[in-house]
Amino acid sequence: MTINNLAAWQRQPGKPLSIAPAELPTLAHNEILVKNEAVAINPLDYILQDMALLPWLDYPAIIGSDVAGTIVAVGEGVDRFAVGDRVLGQAVGTTVNQPSQGAFQQHSVVLAHMAAPIPDEMKAINAVVLPLGLGTAASGLYQPGNLGLRHPSANPQPSGETLLVWGASSSVGCNAVQLATASGYEVVAIASPDHATMVRELGAAQVLDYRDANVVNQVVEALRGKILVGAFHATGNLADTFKVMGQVEGRRLVATTLPAQIEPPATVEVAAIAGTSLRDDEVGPMIYCDFLPAALASGRYVAAPSPKVIGRGLKALQHAVDAQRKGVSGYKLVVDLSRSEEA
Ligand SMILES: NC(=O)c1ccc[n+]([C@@H]2O[C@H](COP(=O)([O-])OP(=O)(O)OC[C@H]3O[C@@H](n4cnc5c(N)ncnc54)[C@H](OP(=O)(O)O)[C@@H]3O)[C@@H](O)[C@H]2O)c1
Repeated sequence: MTINNLAAWQRQPGKPLSIAPAELPTLAHNEILVKNEAVAINPLDYILQDMALLPWLDYPAIIGSDVAGTIVAVGEGVDRFAVGDRVLGQAVGTTVNQPSQGAFQQHSVVLAHMAAPIPDEMKAINAVVLPLGLGTAASGLYQPGNLGLRHPSANPQPSGETLLVWGASSSVGCNAVQLATASGYEVVAIASPDHATMVRELGAAQVLDYRDANVVNQVVEALRGKILVGAFHATGNLADTFKVMGQVEGRRLVATTLPAQIEPPATVEVAAIAGTSLRDDEVGPMIYCDFLPAALASGRYVAAPSPKVIGRGLKALQHAVDAQRKGVSGYKLVVDLSRSEEA
């Protein structure tokens, strides 16, 4: 392709990002090329900067998972999109070891079924908070090997069942709360009081404080008498989640984003979530093609948590990754590339 493209390369683990040209391939079947107007930052980004977490990932790599921008080319077989469409997309470059599919660059190759239109009134800096958080939540909630729950819909009928979401104010947690609510489940959420209002507005019926020394007993009490379909552990203390699930009635299955480094009680099952795995099964198209476009356009699904724009241009990405390493609280770090001057 003849488009000039610059990327913030991760040359090797332990080094800062460095800006240099990155070639763009000819698009394959089902691929779109997005001119990125905004990219968001995830914990995975500083982890992949600090260490070679993914054994298959070659460095130099282009990391980053969340893009929003305008389509500048479409590959064969793409009929949902045309050049000029504004989209958000989940970039899976580090999963498939393809720098062209990473987010931290001016243009990213995105799989068409991992992208969704951005409503006209929504800015790219808002839309970009969604992809990896959404994809991770959807994988954990809907894949049969995880919680295997009912799919979300425009008019969810209450199922009469309850899901526990631990770490509900995180990026993944906000999406888990919204999706589970759109699937008709009652959500009991765990988050700090700082973000209880936000988590309630996303659909949670109750929010309990993870910092309370008595949180385990409180959650067990809150779940008493309910029909529990499991726990979605987005972040926080996995041991506390296990303690709760070891004491409740119902389905004692925990889907977690974290590698389980502690043993659950004998009666509790654990499923490990892979946040890009939905690209390979029915969950990816179900979310990005069938559910999200109408849900976003109607306002039934919101881009949460709110973006915090930390800088502009590829050069701001290192500062953004450093800020994510220090931790975020109820917001998502975003870099605005809409007036990127590095080209
Ligand atoms: N397996 C995968 O494929 C995959 C994919 C994506 C993410 N992840 C992992 O999933 C986790 C969440 O990622 P994220 O991007 O959603 O995180 P995030 O948005 O950066 O998480 C920050 C939020 O977590 C809350 N929090 C911090 N400590 C907590 C605790 N002990 N209990 C409950 N909430 C707590 C904070 O609230 P307060 O400020 O109020 O404390 C804050 O709102 C990370 O560990 C990430 O690496 C895994």
